Amino acid sequence: MLHGKKILLIVSGGIAAYKSLDLIRRLREHGAVISCVLTEAACKFITPLSITSLSGQKAYSDLFSLTDENEMGHIELSRQSDLILVAPATANILAKMASGICDDLATTVLMATNKPVMVAPSMNVRMWKHMAMISNTKKLRDRGIVFVGPETGDMACGEYGPGRMTEPLELVGAIYKHFDSNNPLEGKKALVTSGPTHEPIDPVRYISNRSSGKQGHAIAAALNQFGAETVLVTGPTNEPDPPGVKVKRVESAREMLDACRESLPVDIAVCAAAVTDWCPSEPCEQKIKKNGKAPAVQLTKNPDILRELAKDCNNRPHLVIGFAAETGDVVKKAIPKLEDKGCDWILANDVSRGTKTFGGDQNTIYFINGDLVEAWPEMTKINVGNLLAERIAKQFKEELKNG
Ligand code: C5P
Repeated sequence: MLHGKKILLIVSGGIAAYKSLDLIRRLREHGAVISCVLTEAACKFITPLSITSLSGQKAYSDLFSLTDENEMGHIELSRQSDLILVAPATANILAKMASGICDDLATTVLMATNKPVMVAPSMNVRMWKHMAMISNTKKLRDRGIVFVGPETGDMACGEYGPGRMTEPLELVGAIYKHFDSNNPLEGKKALVTSGPTHEPIDPVRYISNRSSGKQGHAIAAALNQFGAETVLVTGPTNEPDPPGVKVKRVESAREMLDACRESLPVDIAVCAAAVTDWCPSEPCEQKIKKNGKAPAVQLTKNPDILRELAKDCNNRPHLVIGFAAETGDVVKKAIPKLEDKGCDWILANDVSRGTKTFGGDQNTIYFINGDLVEAWPEMTKINVGNLLAERIAKQFKEELKNG
């Protein structure tokens, strides 16, 4: 059952809008609670009244309605749902989503949301195959948006090909799959480290590195979406807190280690932080004056958080995963780390100049698990997070099956 699941259905203006009425009926039969937003064009195909009658809830369509904003602000509308489903999703709304345009309630809700978004495209076959559509689809998939359909068949315009909106019953199936597969880590606890660390030289200066925290934050977001109770221990970054994740902010490697220890026990630990390898042995309490000769800063090795979690800890998480950021011969350099650090899996990536991994949105990973080395194609850091969460869920499922 989809009992109590809150689904926000966004209906855009395509001929398949009539199917969304049946979809509402089917979803409610399965126990889901449906709120609806219609675009202006959708209102030409179906009426808010028919939507309200079927959903049992007010249908929203006007961004500038003060009554609606009072009843339910657009941010609230986007955040109170477990899933946002755009069905039908026209070429127009998909293009707006891809470009971040928000000129009505539907697109504003889609921009403001931090919840999973699923789309059921519906359009003419030539529109679906258009270069602009192909690039928009890629952009949206890269951001983790789930596409269901379109299906191939006869179109309302008389043509034949892919472009038909998936039938309501099949969409209900996809939604079931989404909720089933989205909580496979329910009951598990996860710890993720992210970002760089800052190692103070004096109160204003520090040693650090170029890590943006994007990858670690994306992993924490994905684990949380998969149902794990997730703690993110992060060094200083500009990344927003992933929704639903408990975030502990730290500065130095020492503080990161303490925050990790305090977060134990957990089932899963993913160390994605680029912990600064050394710290000044004796940071000055006062700002070092620059009128004398340049100071010699004596460095000490920082604690290895991954190694401590995987090897030297009474509460070893069941699955410990590390990263290996290398330049050249990535796999060869990463494999010995499995043993050295004592972790179960390593995700190795190339951070040579020009690979744009540090600070970029894309990542190219070698997934190393014992003798298995898998080259993952280049993908967004969000999708690396999703794929890793999938792998983790699969691992726990298999262990459960094998007793
Ligand atoms: O030794 P190296 O820095 O290559 O190891 C990378 C892996 O070890 C990453 O998973 C990183 O988060 C972790 N690490 C750590 N503490 C350190 C150094 C690295 O947790 N002091």
